[in-house]
Amino acid sequence: MSKKLYIETLGCAMNERDSAHIIAELEEKESYALTNNPKEADLILINTCSVREKPEKKLFSEIGQYAKVKKQDAKIGVCGCTASHLGDEILKRSKSVDFVLGARNVSKISQIIHQKRVAWVDIDYDDSTYVFSQNHHSALKGMINISIGCDKKCTYCIVPHTRGNEISIPADLILQEAKRFVDSGTKEILLLGQNVNNYGRRFSSPHRAINFTQLLHEISQIDGLERIRFTSPHPLHMDDDFILEFAKNPKICKAIHMPLQSGSSEILKKMKRGYSKEWFLNRVEKMRSLIPQLSIGTDIIVGFPTESEEDFLETLDVLEKVRFDTVYSFIYSSRPHTEAHYWLEEDKVHLVDEEIAKERLNRLKDRHKEILAEDNAKQIGKIHQVLIESFDMQNLFLEGRSDTNKLVRIKDKESFVGSLCDVRITEVKGAQLIGKLA
Ligand code: 5AD
Ligand code: SF4
Repeated sequence: MSKKLYIETLGCAMNERDSAHIIAELEEKESYALTNNPKEADLILINTCSVREKPEKKLFSEIGQYAKVKKQDAKIGVCGCTASHLGDEILKRSKSVDFVLGARNVSKISQIIHQKRVAWVDIDYDDSTYVFSQNHHSALKGMINISIGCDKKCTYCIVPHTRGNEISIPADLILQEAKRFVDSGTKEILLLGQNVNNYGRRFSSPHRAINFTQLLHEISQIDGLERIRFTSPHPLHMDDDFILEFAKNPKICKAIHMPLQSGSSEILKKMKRGYSKEWFLNRVEKMRSLIPQLSIGTDIIVGFPTESEEDFLETLDVLEKVRFDTVYSFIYSSRPHTEAHYWLEEDKVHLVDEEIAKERLNRLKDRHKEILAEDNAKQIGKIHQVLIESFDMQNLFLEGRSDTNKLVRIKDKESFVGSLCDVRITEVKGAQLIGKLA
């Protein structure tokens, strides 16, 4: 009988992809089968995120919960960014943890599960050419890592410390994985990296010259592949060449994540983002002029040290001008090993008052909700191309994502699952669109 693996994945899409790699490695090399019940698992893994302080703090209580319910001989492993960040300390603070595996060391999973009380968190480890075991479950959507790590030095961000220097994965490996996905029935591929459009700047061994725009073009040549998405691009590297390819290549979905972080050029400078408010708006304008239906998502931090009301109003101004489709917004959280954290420790800057930061976050969220309601209402009568992903047996509707990444529900037959269909929108419920096959 196979052993059972339970895995909890927190954080970003990179972590989801890492978990998919971990699952495939353990299924193929160690005969594990997935379970969604920690009580029956032989191995419990928590794939952690450390980008903000709160989830990191919750880790130890979570480990305690698993330790209480697990089978007697079951092992607990902590993986991901908090594993990289805290390393050995996790073993010291919790007797229940059997091993700690950093975000840069995923390819060692089938070795570490046989070790006792070790932490492998080498941040210089390079598994950019490692070929992971293949997931044998065919799926409509596939995720492919195109780079590991991050070379940016945003002053709020812990990721360069947890995921190390940026290294691009060889293009041939990416193309091979994409073809394999398509051969097994995948229609949509999501390319992943901390900074996808910095692709090609550094490989771990000699490689032909290639940038992100060229990579997109090469992947789109694969017969049978219908859709390409990617996350996250950096607004600084959105050059004209990239925008043209993005606009004219019919396989590239017309939804883009553009992490703004702040609308104030002053704050952007302090964050070391490398662009100004004007540059960001100019890139949006250029894309919208070529792709009017473009959907844009963003990440925003409020309450970065020294952020004034005027700075925050600049952020609201960008929200008004761009009318983002999705906004992930956060209150600044001071993270160790970051430049802004040292400024705070040295009293060079101060944290924005918590109540003020909360009030700004609410103002941002409330205004965004209004914008979304107004813009979604305009979708009624429009036709969207939807990849139908699932069928809800109980309520008898199909569900999928539009080219612009909107969730769409359709009352129709199960047999459409897996197809790309034109759907006319008839109704809007919150962020969800409801429609009929056109
Ligand atoms: N505090 C708050 N939010 C942060 N993010 C990254 N670091 C921090 C931090 N220290 C947000 C950014 C990033 C997203 C993944 O998390 O907006 O784009
Ligand atoms: Fe992803 Fe960053 Fe969280 Fe790591 S710290 S899981 S890279 S969001």
